[in-house]
Amino acid sequence: MQGNGMQTAAGLHRVRRVAAVLCLAAISALAGPALAEAGGADEDNPFANSKDAADKGEELFSRNCQPCHNTRGKGGKGPQLVRGAWGPGGANTDLTMYRIIAGGRPGTEMGSFATGLTSDEMWQIITFLRAEAKRVKSEASKASEDDTLW
Ligand code: HEC
Repeated sequence: MQGNGMQTAAGLHRVRRVAAVLCLAAISALAGPALAEAGGADEDNPFANSKDAADKGEELFSRNCQPCHNTRGKGGKGPQLVRGAWGPGGANTDLTMYRIIAGGRPGTEMGSFATGLTSDEMWQIITFLRAEAKRVKSEASKASEDDTLW
């Protein structure tokens, strides 16, 4: 009887070790893309810089996001999505944005769109916001040129 119990304990130990190794494997699989993300801006977006996708994204944005993020993502109840870290060359990548849209921000009004939108639709919205960010930036620099003229 006692021998049996020891065998079971040893078996359990082995199972735990295997589980720990599997966990490590899962963590490094997740860390891989996160590390890759640090490098590029829009390499993950299959529609990056596509005018067609941006047009579709604009439509989708006004239906799904505008109530909170305001016209063209300029910010309202939810934060702006086209300047600063979201602006051209800003720290936030397309993939960062994709993850927020798909996963939402638990505990805030920013819900998950993983079931409401297809993956393509989420990328189209991002393409629209990125194009809008460029437009906002070029308008801002035009405005400051005007300032220096007057
Ligand atoms: C019901 C209101 C609501 C809707 C609809 C909504 N959002 Fe949000 N969103 C928020 C709020 C509020 C936050 C800020 C959450 C927080 O406190 O971190 C947010 C945060 C975000 C952020 C992170 C911004 C940052 O600087 O931290 C992104 C990106 C975003 N939303 C994109 C979208 C997109 C794209 C859509 C449409 C597909 C959308 N949201 C729809 C309310 C909304």
